[in-house]
Amino acid sequence: MKITVIGTGYVGLVSGVCFAEFGFNVTCVDNNLAKVEALNRGEVPIYEPGLDKLMAKNTQAGRLSFTSDIAKSVKDADIVFIAVGTPSKADGSADLSYVFQAVDDLSATINRDAVLVVKSTVPVGTTKSVKKFLADKGVDIDVAFNPEFLKEGAAIDDFMHPDRVILGVETKKAKKILEQVYRPLYVFNIPIVFTGLETAELSKYASNAFLAMKVTFINEVANLCEACGADVNDVALVMGLDKRIGDKFLQAGPGYGGSCFPKDTSALADFADDFGVKMPLVSETINSNNLRREKMVAKILAACEHKVAGKNIAVLGVTFKANTDDMRDSPSIEIVNELINEGANINIYDPSFSTQAKRMFNNVAWKESVNDACEGADTVIILTDWPEFKALNLKELRSKTNGGLLIDLRNIYPVKEAEAAGFRYCSVGRAFN
Ligand code: NAD
Ligand code: UGA
Repeated sequence: MKITVIGTGYVGLVSGVCFAEFGFNVTCVDNNLAKVEALNRGEVPIYEPGLDKLMAKNTQAGRLSFTSDIAKSVKDADIVFIAVGTPSKADGSADLSYVFQAVDDLSATINRDAVLVVKSTVPVGTTKSVKKFLADKGVDIDVAFNPEFLKEGAAIDDFMHPDRVILGVETKKAKKILEQVYRPLYVFNIPIVFTGLETAELSKYASNAFLAMKVTFINEVANLCEACGADVNDVALVMGLDKRIGDKFLQAGPGYGGSCFPKDTSALADFADDFGVKMPLVSETINSNNLRREKMVAKILAACEHKVAGKNIAVLGVTFKANTDDMRDSPSIEIVNELINEGANINIYDPSFSTQAKRMFNNVAWKESVNDACEGADTVIILTDWPEFKALNLKELRSKTNGGLLIDLRNIYPVKEAEAAGFRYCSVGRAFN
């Protein structure tokens, strides 16, 4: 079977590499020439653990190739996946221009027996509109919707061992070919659920919005913990022991970021509105998460007794979460820029050495290690819970710093341990003495 994947971002590249690993013949397409050239040199343009090895293995095996020629890539494909971006427009709705550009680009040459599968996250009704867009051009092919649920940083494992695969189809032909594509997952007994197009499209948004709401809920509980003297880590532990609640996505922090929760909650609220349905829980999740960033800035300034001008601040981790170089909608953008505005001298160490990040901040010093960043710092701030920040020798770190303030927005350390190392330790939803 020949698979073409359009878009070689976090989803398209991971999907293409993993489909090749399943044994299929895969062509990955991108209209960013520099990206395709880099991929053809064997360079992985994103930080995603394990992706480089799997990509090299499948390219060498002759099952995986990269091109910018979309028209040619779809000519003899049996199935074509669209995995281009669907970012937010200024009004919060999903920008579908990349999806329709890709559909337009492939329309003249796509194999008329192929099935076209939308994998990008798109509002309800989009896959039907894609079908109509093609029909209006005289192209009558089957369409399907197959949402992707991978998380950055764990993308390969999530793709290879997903909790479920959702396939929105309208025809037997689409069902049959998608069954073949995902057959390698049957051995792991992974639930494969066939639905209609609308249900599949909405399932993706409902899942992301629910997870965003869960994170937001625990962040609001953290606010209350700070006011009443409870410990949010313990509250989350107790809640998570209830199997109906589950222990995932109850880690309080600086608010959710990334390329998906912010844009998908906004898009869901927007298209629900178009259907005449209000979703106040979703709207409030968005508002609460936006306020969270201001709250984190206020928390940092208060812990620094509002004296940050001219002070040395070491920032550990700026990506929106660990194990990615993705800076899209990272809480660090507002937080670090606000500290720069306040006149702080900022040293940053991020283990991904993200080039996206380097474009985000002016007048900061980029450091090569935790120790380099923290040398002589008045304050150390942990913004992202990278694994290498989880077992720092706090006593040694304290001795490198100038001041003794450690602000940990990911609650990595037990309060007593950080205090025993000589830090004033300010975390989220826990005591700060
Ligand atoms: P991305 O921005 O990382 O990558 C998109 C790629 O598509 C880019 O390389 C871009 O150059 C390319 N592209 C755009 N228009 C094109 C065209 N006409 N022809 C060929 N290539 C084109 O995006 P992403 O993060 O991979 O997200 C893709 C979709 O998957 C989005 O809808 C997103 O919501 C969804 N999604 C993302 C994740 C994630 O973890 N990032 C997880 C699940 C679902
Ligand atoms: C999320 C979903 O988890 C994926 O299932 C989905 O496919 C993807 O969005 C998408 O549609 O793009 P991702 O954005 O990679 O994946 O990262 P998450 O691990 O979900 O984290 C999202 C944000 O929530 C991060 O800023 C993270 O720091 C924050 N978070 C997460 C918390 O603050 N606390 C938690 O307990 C969990």
